[in-house]
Amino acid sequence: MTTATHPNTFDADGFKSAMRSQWDQAAPGWNAHAAQIRAWLGPATEAMLEMSGVRRGARVLDVAAGAGDQSLDIARRVGPEGYVLATDLSPAIVALAQANACRAGFDQMQTRVADGEHLPVESASFDAAVCRLGLMFFPDPLQGLREMRRALKPGAGICTMVFSRPERNPCITALMSTALKHAGLPPRDPFAPGGLLSLGKPGLIAELFAAAGFTEVATTAIDAPFKMSSARDYLDFIRASASPIQQILGRLNDAAAAAAWAEMEEGLQAFAIEGGWEGPNELLLTAGRC
Ligand SMILES: C[S@@+](CC[C@H](N)C(=O)[O-])C[C@H]1O[C@@H](n2cnc3c(N)ncnc32)[C@H](O)[C@@H]1O
Repeated sequence: MTTATHPNTFDADGFKSAMRSQWDQAAPGWNAHAAQIRAWLGPATEAMLEMSGVRRGARVLDVAAGAGDQSLDIARRVGPEGYVLATDLSPAIVALAQANACRAGFDQMQTRVADGEHLPVESASFDAAVCRLGLMFFPDPLQGLREMRRALKPGAGICTMVFSRPERNPCITALMSTALKHAGLPPRDPFAPGGLLSLGKPGLIAELFAAAGFTEVATTAIDAPFKMSSARDYLDFIRASASPIQQILGRLNDAAAAAAWAEMEEGLQAFAIEGGWEGPNELLLTAGRC
């Protein structure tokens, strides 16, 4: 682990094992909400694929690929003569990515269970790498970036997507603080490694890219509001698929958890708009070159 960001007592293996089981549990919910996630992240994903240089015939590494939503876009872009390897820490979510690839008939897409900090791939074997909403969950994101760099050929491109700073992501901030309060836990430093907003600290991700050895590093902030018909619908998505919130509330009994969800729903009403609901979200796309 990067000693600059964690105290010596940090148990990275324990953290990852908890992360793996959280995402194994959340996997079906994340996969079931693919349509909503696509509506939310579609334009930002197109930009990410463009910025990393995902082109026809390319060999692409997708890290923390989840159920493979963006991997399917990559498979479409690279075509049958290209290749995409979708990797993720959670075996359950990788199984869903594999099923989604089979359903789409994409022989050019393969999946592998892998910790992004230790990728089981050959050095200098990919033309592009992406990581959509995954890197912030790594206890050592610098090690994750170094691994992606190792996997890339000289001149290849990379682009990652993470949440930006807390003020630009008020729904996440509100959900986390309400969940922690109900669980009797103290407020958390939003920038502590491994958290949802950990790479949103201004300038941090660009610094990590440079430290990993990437050149031509550039970060772009993108507005990606989450549009739903109501706060309740957004909360249904969170309840089914947002593993960090589930993990905090998992320690409560049913009544206490219900009280937490009710308070969250009340808070989220602040983002109701005429005829629906729109939760502000800002993402950071960071691109670099090997
Ligand atoms: C919010 S989901 C994003 C999934 C997918 N990229 C998407 O955008 O639909 C975060 C993913 O990061 C994965 N993840 C967390 N820590 C990881 C690690 N150390 N190595 C690889 N994957 C990890 C989780 O298992 C989960 O599938």
